[in-house]
This record gives sequence, structure tokens and C-alpha cells, in this order.
Amino acid sequence: MTSPPPLRWGLIGAARIAASALIPAFRSTGSPIVALGCSDPVRGAAFAAKHEIPHVSGYAGLLARDDIDAVYIALPNHAHLPLTLAALAAGKHVLCEKPLALSADEARQMKAAASTAKRTVMEAFMHRFHPQLARAQALVHGEAWGPLKWMRSHFTYTLHDPADVRWSRRMGGGALYDLGCYPLSVMRWLAGVEPVVTGVAAGLTPPDAEGGRVDHAAHAMLRFDTVHGDVTGHFDCAFSLPPHAQFEALLRDGILRLETPFGWKDVEAVLRIGDHVERFAPCDPYALMVRHFETAAQGHEALRITLDDSIAQAVAMDALLAGAHGAANV
Ligand SMILES: NC(=O)c1ccc[n+]([C@@H]2O[C@H](COP(=O)([O-])OP(=O)(O)OC[C@H]3O[C@@H](n4cnc5c(N)ncnc54)[C@H](OP(=O)(O)O)[C@@H]3O)[C@@H](O)[C@H]2O)c1
Repeated sequence: MTSPPPLRWGLIGAARIAASALIPAFRSTGSPIVALGCSDPVRGAAFAAKHEIPHVSGYAGLLARDDIDAVYIALPNHAHLPLTLAALAAGKHVLCEKPLALSADEARQMKAAASTAKRTVMEAFMHRFHPQLARAQALVHGEAWGPLKWMRSHFTYTLHDPADVRWSRRMGGGALYDLGCYPLSVMRWLAGVEPVVTGVAAGLTPPDAEGGRVDHAAHAMLRFDTVHGDVTGHFDCAFSLPPHAQFEALLRDGILRLETPFGWKDVEAVLRIGDHVERFAPCDPYALMVRHFETAAQGHEALRITLDDSIAQAVAMDALLAGAHGAANV
């Protein structure tokens, strides 16, 4: 099968993640970045000049362009829903940062709008495109090591900037949305069924000026009812600990370990199972994600992270947040 041509892209938000990961990914796939939409004309012009993006405007101006096929949304989490709906109404495909939505209800609104617009929306979970995860899934579901029994994971770093939007409840901040979404996604992917949340312990920030509190740390317990019996999942995520990421899946006859579980780019990935070691050459999962999205949006491949997948992720996240914040506050 020949590959379809690249899409023509607009970026929404002069974001750090766009500069560090997605612009290099679009360059490596040969996908033209036609325009930037930015809320601040001065900052937007500087960002566009630095990254050689030919046109800059506000978000509405970007969406009105007829020379853009798809947008990449890298805004604070609370802005994902309105910009996704606006982009779909303008006839654009949407690759939107994680977490796609702040609730399952928001994700369902996106699915309905994507269906009406006949356009593709995908949550930008780049780790799912790293070849180590496909290999991990094959090992977990293969015969050699026995069925999956248990999963555990950590994802932490220290968020120093008190002005970061991740500290704002209104803007969809908190460690579960920002970090916990990764171990949750990998556990769902490996288990192959959706979890029941059996417990959450969280540390919350004091109320901010708007009265909002975010989970700066959370410990989550999940149960996956698989055809081979119950599988337990535990993960920790926090903004207040040194940078650390780890994932382990305990199978009947051995432990599978991923040293860089969440898709770091340009580093060798190492997968261990029992005494065996498998090494994956450095790659760019963001570029693999972009190429897949472009192929799927043009109907040449089934979308690998569907909106039903994102809705199921959001259902689990709703339950985790209800546990972390107390159901009455969510
Ligand atoms: N997949 C990954 O590896 C990865 C890594 C990091 C982050 N992310 C996700 O990417 C998204 C952006 O994260 P980031 O760290 O790159 O964000 P960021 O650079 O801090 O901000 C991104 C954009 O959001 C807008 N923004 C920032 N602060 C705002 C505020 N207080 N009120 C309203 N708008 C504001 C700005 O848009 P304008 O430029 O238009 O003004 C800014 O350029 C988040 O959803 C995050 O979860 C993903």
C-alpha cells in the first residue's frame, strides 16, 4: 500500500510540547506546518519566526483557513473540548493533547461532533506508538510467560513553577490528569479490559483563589476482570517527587519491566522479562503517532486510539478523580 500524502497542519497554542516534540515530529514526517494560532500576537509571532511557521493568527483565524487539513491542539486541558469542537465545526481533523477531555461526558461530546463533521479526532498518546508497547502486549497475551496477574507503575516529577496551569483545578490541573493518565492508559492497553477503581489516596493542594484544589499526588488501585481472572493495577503519580517513571507487569512465570515506559523519544528503550532483555533502538514515538494519524484520517488505516478508547479512559479517570477529591467535589 502506498502512503497517503502528509496533511497540512495548523498548531493551536505556542506550547512547550509543540516546540520540543510535535514540531520536530511534523518536520520528520514531512508534514507542512501552515499556520500557528496563538492567543498572544507578539508571542505568537516570535514562536512562528523561531520555528519557521509562515502564518500566525488567533485561534478563530487559524480555523477559518482553507489550506489546513488538521490541527494539533496543545492548550491547557480545560481548553481541549471547546477547541476540538470549534476545529471539527471548521472541518479540520484534530490531534489533541492528553488528557483529551476532563470527563467522559466531554469525550462523548467530541465523539458526537466528530461523527457529525466526518473528521478524525485522536488523543495524542504518543507512548502507544512506541514499538516496545506492542511487544509488551504480545508478551502479556502470549503463552510463554503465563497470564497477567498484577501491574504496578510510578510516574513522578517535581513541578517547580507555581504559575503552571497544572496547579489550577479550573484548567484541568492535577497529577492524575497530567501523569496518571499514562500508567492508566498502559494498564488498560495491556489488560485489554476496562478497570474498576478499587481505591484512591490523594494529597490535595490548599484551595486556590478560585477555591479549586488539585491532586499533587495520588496512589490508585484498579481491578481488571480479565478472562484469566482478576488483575490488580497499582500506580503512583506526583508533582512533588524526583523524576521517576517505571512500569512492571507481573505474569505467572516472570516479571516484565519497561525502563522508559511512557514513550521517551530518541533514547534506547529496554524491556526485560524474566532473564531476557530486549533493546529497542532510539525512535520518535511522536513522529510515529503523526504518521499514523495522517494515514488513519485519510482512511488508509484503522485509528489506533479511537474516541471510544478515550471515552473509556475518561470513565476510569472520572472514577479516580471522584476518589481523589471526594465525589461531592467533582
Ligand atoms: N504528550 C506529551 O508528551 C506532553 C508533554 C507535555 C504536555 N502535554 C500536554 O500538552 C498540553 C500543553 O502542555 P504544555 O506544557 O506544552 O503547555 P504550555 O506550554 O504551558 O502552554 C500551552 C499553551 O496553552 C496556553 N496557555 C498557557 N497558560 C495559559 C493560561 N494560564 N490560560 C490560558 N491559556 C494558557 C498558551 O496558548 P497560546 O500560545 O495560544 O497563548 C500556551 O502556549 C497539555 O494538555 C499537556 O497535558 C503533553
